[in-house]
Amino acid sequence: MIDEINRLLEEGKAELASASSEAQVEAARVKYLGKSGSLSALRKGMGKLAPAERPAMGKLVSEALSRFESLLKDQQHKIGEQALQRDLAREKLDVTLPGRSQKRGHRHPVSQALDDIVEIFARLGFHVADGPEIEWDLYNFEKLGIPSDHPARDMQDTFYLDLATQPEPPPGSPPTEGAQKQLLLRTHTSPVQARTMLAQPPPVRIIAPGKVYRCDSDITHTPMFHQVECLHVEQGLSMAHLRGTLDAFAKAFFGSSVKTRLRPSYFPFTEPSAEVDVSCAACGGKGCRLCKQTGWLEVLGSGMVNPDVLAGVGYDPEKVTGYAFGVGIDRLAMLRYGIDDLRSLFENDVRFLEQL
Ligand code: PHE
Repeated sequence: MIDEINRLLEEGKAELASASSEAQVEAARVKYLGKSGSLSALRKGMGKLAPAERPAMGKLVSEALSRFESLLKDQQHKIGEQALQRDLAREKLDVTLPGRSQKRGHRHPVSQALDDIVEIFARLGFHVADGPEIEWDLYNFEKLGIPSDHPARDMQDTFYLDLATQPEPPPGSPPTEGAQKQLLLRTHTSPVQARTMLAQPPPVRIIAPGKVYRCDSDITHTPMFHQVECLHVEQGLSMAHLRGTLDAFAKAFFGSSVKTRLRPSYFPFTEPSAEVDVSCAACGGKGCRLCKQTGWLEVLGSGMVNPDVLAGVGYDPEKVTGYAFGVGIDRLAMLRYGIDDLRSLFENDVRFLEQL
């Protein structure tokens, strides 16, 4: 019987030692200590022994049982410990690592320039007017004195809307000849001039920022770009008011060191007309790719509102005069940040925009 005890104990020990999971340890417990376990069976076998042998044998069996129990506990502990270490290794967490900061976006350079322009003109007493991007021929061209053979109407410049059923154009629209289309993507913000004057009597003092579209694409032209229209109509306005307003704007936007110049120009809706250039910020006026080696960049068209335009919206050109100009916002943003390709403003490459 002693041999049997030792044999079972040795066997159980080996089995426990090779158990590598909680389930295997539990299986060994059932096999040796369970109701019909082999070590438990020894205890039941005591009855068959001679009474004199029982105390000594009983002691040995008890010792074997408690020895096995303690081995079992050790092994359970060991396996639990191993599982814990495995988890700790897998879920390694370095609490000393610096936190990952959230990347913060910022306003697009064009939006920033626009905000600044609106603010500068608000200080000068102008308020913001609005107009649609899909515009009628009437407001984009006709009311601005642009006849139907004007180059700005050329299919190369203007995106016309090719609708299966054309909605009814507003009264006063030019008569439709053949395939002539009445709806287009506005080519400038000047139609807001006509819309505003038609909707209210003078005086008018507005700026109208927004998107405009032309079928054009190179380093200084994109098919969509942004303009701000400025219109001031009142009694007694002259070219001096135009110059004064432009000057105040240029100084406020670029700072006093930027040079500006006026060049005589032509627009059908202003008379006289002038184009305004600012010195190129990318090259400091020396000449570069951006300014086409001239040292100057054209940023706006301007002039005194043509009396015919005033009459066309029901104003009396004998009583009121006005000045107007249209600024290219994207050009201003380019100048401010020294960007030499207008298209890069609209590619939305975050790596590029982040630098601004
Ligand atoms: N609308 C003109 C353009 O887009 C600019 C302009 C506006 C000129 C107002 C004169 C007066 O080129």
